[in-house]
Amino acid sequence: MDQWRRGGLVVREATIRDLDTIARLEEEAFPQDQVSRRSFAYHLRSPLKPVIAVTVEGELAGYALLALSKGGRSARIYTIAVDPRFARRGVGTTLIAAAESFARRHGRGRITLEVRYDNKPAITLYERCGFQPFGEHEDYYADGATALRYKKTLDRQAFGPREQLAS
Ligand SMILES: CC(C)(COP(=O)(O)OP(=O)(O)OC[C@H]1O[C@@H](n2cnc3c(N)ncnc32)[C@H](O)[C@@H]1OP(=O)(O)O)[C@@H](O)C(=O)NCCC(=O)NCCS
Repeated sequence: MDQWRRGGLVVREATIRDLDTIARLEEEAFPQDQVSRRSFAYHLRSPLKPVIAVTVEGELAGYALLALSKGGRSARIYTIAVDPRFARRGVGTTLIAAAESFARRHGRGRITLEVRYDNKPAITLYERCGFQPFGEHEDYYADGATALRYKKTLDRQAFGPREQLAS
């Protein structure tokens, strides 16, 4: 994946050097149902490069972990979080644009995700980015909360953010 820019934000593949920051942000963002440090370490070493980072002035401001269903048509946003110090600056929106680019690069025409029914900031973000609800998983989280399922069909004609490659 090439590094690209969007305003003051830089998008790049996350690497194992980002592990401490990502594991800390994940812990702070999710009181339960976190992706473990060990799991991030595994994904950060994967040749698939499924962890995307957004940085601001060299500092990691947010990340997304993506997954590809085996032989399927979809990519899935497994987790996404933004450092609260960089909230409401478009980091989440940029991570979603990068996830779409990842999905297209892997020949996937659709992105899916799950979100807690009461996570209003994330639901607002996803709906603003064009995701649509398509079902629920009851008793999905450790505390029994319901997950809402969202999907977005990707327009194959549209170009992703590779148009704006950083120089
Ligand atoms: C949800 C999250 C990723 C949003 O990241 P972000 O970088 O602040 O998002 P953006 O700046 O791209 O916001 C885009 C839009 O989403 C909506 N939004 C984002 N945060 C919001 C909030 N706290 N309250 C209401 N709407 C919000 C707004 O419509 C916002 O546009 P605006 O700022 O012009 O009003 C971030 O709050 C986060 O990491 N939360 C904790 C982890 C989490 O819940 N992850 C999702 C798990 S499914």
